[in-house]
Amino acid sequence: MSVAKKEYKRVTVKSLIDMKKRGEKISMLTAYDYTMAKIVDGAGIDVILVGDSASNVMAGHETTLPITLDQMIYHASSVIRAIERALVVVDLPFGSYQSDPKEALRSAIRIMKESGGHAVKMEGGKEVKESIKRILHAGIPVMGHLGLTPQSIYKFGTYTVRAKEEQEAQRLKEDALMLEKAGCFAIVLEKIPAKLAQEVAQSVSIPVIGIGAGAGVDGQVLVTHDMVGMTHEFNPRFLRRYMNLYEEMTNAFTQYGEDVKSGDFPNDSEQY
Ligand code: KIV
Repeated sequence: MSVAKKEYKRVTVKSLIDMKKRGEKISMLTAYDYTMAKIVDGAGIDVILVGDSASNVMAGHETTLPITLDQMIYHASSVIRAIERALVVVDLPFGSYQSDPKEALRSAIRIMKESGGHAVKMEGGKEVKESIKRILHAGIPVMGHLGLTPQSIYKFGTYTVRAKEEQEAQRLKEDALMLEKAGCFAIVLEKIPAKLAQEVAQSVSIPVIGIGAGAGVDGQVLVTHDMVGMTHEFNPRFLRRYMNLYEEMTNAFTQYGEDVKSGDFPNDSEQY
């Protein structure tokens, strides 16, 4: 059992801030359904992110933009039913918070009420400041997300490393300080230079969780389907694959198909 699992019976936003203070790294993985969430939670992962990456991973869309608030609530409520320990953070999907703070608050309230999630995550810096403040004011914890923000993919044009240029790096540092000041309990930094991510993590007192942001931050997040190798076409440098489930599952399905065709399955002990 991990140190954190023994230390925290239930992970809260406060536990994450304590972990940063104590220098204990935070583990975070995605889940979008009951079965996967149960395994991830049982393994002692601190935070489960019901990411809008469900749009890619579960629905096969090219981007995260098409997933709806109703679909996020469906995924999040399935995850919540499985959880005993992890903090569950739910992405506010594209189009559910960008137009104005009132709409952002309505969307966040729907997530909290209808899914039972514990916090929401939103992409962006000063452009979403008022919405973040409004949501926080209602007592809903908010995790920020800076760097590569996939909901803005059509503005960026590519999924390459962000904030390599001084001007963008400076803006990111300012946005991180703004998110902390506004009251966010943590920030995700996606695909930015490791040195910049470390500098940001050292400049704020809230936890900074990286994906493709190096080792100098307070925790790491990966998309579960990628790290267990269920997906195999997406191969960024930051992705460590702990399994090759794509191959193992393909072998299992092939074998099952052959066994059914040959009449080997079911055998005498597999029937009533
Ligand atoms: O949606 C998601 O999975 C995310 C992570 C990549 C941080 O936002």
